[in-house]
Amino acid sequence: MSQSPNIIPIPVSCRLTGGAPFPLTAKTVVTAGDPALRSTAAQLARILVVTVADRAPAGGNAIVLSLDPGLTEKLGTEGYTLTATAGGVVIRGGGAAGVFYGMQSLRQLLPPDIERFGWKAGGGGLTVAAVEIEDRPRFGWRGSLLDVSRHFSPVAEIKKYLDTLALHKLNVFHWHLVDDQGWRIEIKKYPKLTSVGAWRTASPDIYAEKISDGVPHGGFYTQDDVREIVAYAAERFITVMPEIEVPGHSSAALNAYPQFGNTDAPGYAPLVQPRWTIFPETYAPKPETLQFLDDIFTEVLALFPSTFIHVGGDEAMKEQWEASPTARAFMKANGLKDGHELQSWFIRRTENFLAQRGRRLIGWDEIQEGGLAPGAAMMAWRDVKWAIEAARLGHDVVMAPTSHTYLDYAEGNAEEEAVAVGVQTTLEKVYAFDPIPAELEPAHHARVLGAQGQLWRERMPSLSVVERRAYPRLSALAEVVWSPVERKNYADFRARLTWLLARFDRLGVNYRKPHD
Ligand code: ACM
Repeated sequence: MSQSPNIIPIPVSCRLTGGAPFPLTAKTVVTAGDPALRSTAAQLARILVVTVADRAPAGGNAIVLSLDPGLTEKLGTEGYTLTATAGGVVIRGGGAAGVFYGMQSLRQLLPPDIERFGWKAGGGGLTVAAVEIEDRPRFGWRGSLLDVSRHFSPVAEIKKYLDTLALHKLNVFHWHLVDDQGWRIEIKKYPKLTSVGAWRTASPDIYAEKISDGVPHGGFYTQDDVREIVAYAAERFITVMPEIEVPGHSSAALNAYPQFGNTDAPGYAPLVQPRWTIFPETYAPKPETLQFLDDIFTEVLALFPSTFIHVGGDEAMKEQWEASPTARAFMKANGLKDGHELQSWFIRRTENFLAQRGRRLIGWDEIQEGGLAPGAAMMAWRDVKWAIEAARLGHDVVMAPTSHTYLDYAEGNAEEEAVAVGVQTTLEKVYAFDPIPAELEPAHHARVLGAQGQLWRERMPSLSVVERRAYPRLSALAEVVWSPVERKNYADFRARLTWLLARFDRLGVNYRKPHD
């Protein structure tokens, strides 16, 4: 292997000690001293095709995983140290997450062929170079949004996707489960959300948006599926954060239950939309709708342990509220001067509902327009200026700007990528992103929880296309959110990336070959 360890994201420090390397053999064992590390040990043993043992054999030849709470002060719960010597490898973490990340680094110290052949790769002569690594993430929120409304992915695909996030030490899976084009999560109390709301008649043609493909599309996750995904993610130290859109992007839900929309607005006709644009449907401010939303969130909270619950809040059109006598009367009675204030009213109410249950609301930057609820966090997508404003007001923010983190935007030029949207967002541009805006005062930096990459799937019908949009730009973003700024170097990243792409080849993960 090369003299510079090919780890992405690059660790805080990594020193080749010059000592004899550790030979990996059929007899190598993985040991985990703590029950919290068992799953990590099993995952590593599965990759290396070796066994897990209670303790290291007398002669060494072990990869030892251990918790060392004393490390937490220096490296946090996600930090780790990795020491490889001729006798073995020791990975220590302040918390179990740290040990898991150390395991991912060890994996990348070994050649890509291990992903297929385990210890036998390279004809059985594999070694781990003698190194000392000390590492911890720059940000606690290292996320990836996947839209499963515009196009659905079954459970097995979600698991494969989570595996690639774990390889990059990403830790938030933002699951965009609900939109105008399909409702994708079973809610027991409202079965029509999925029996009706998960199915649309057609989608726009990939190449010609105005033409319908005429092909029905749909699918949803049962609550058992959701539990399975949440547990699978947890074993990879990934939090699954659901997004349930309020009050807009609600056309599919309202197609299933039209009575909860603005039924007295002229032309009210919600559909599970077969087109990609923004639609006028919003939830109506009336008691039965509020009960409907409370019931939905009650079931959602029972499924997702995530502290943060994403409530969307973006692109809610105000026309139907303005046109509905019921909504207008509600605004007047509650002293709300327009649709923006009604939008904020919905978000505040939801924030209160979540806070009473020990959770925190996060929403897209529009939730700030009519005043941000006190405990709410904000995800900036249109412009980082919204995040700067919110952080200055004391709100936690997550950076998800179109400018650098919309991975549905074309990576190559327009000619090459006819089906991608938006302005070209190159690998180098994503790599150059800094989640801390230059103009944000240091006193507010801690408000920036981190950043995430967005994969909106209007033009991504399959997981293979998702992967090709995601990688390697999400690999670049992983380094943005994990590695210290001083360690970032695009040329060096590109050199290390060659190895990661070879690993993707072995794992059957699609990607766009960089050629700029
Ligand atoms: C968004 O792209 N509407 C958040």
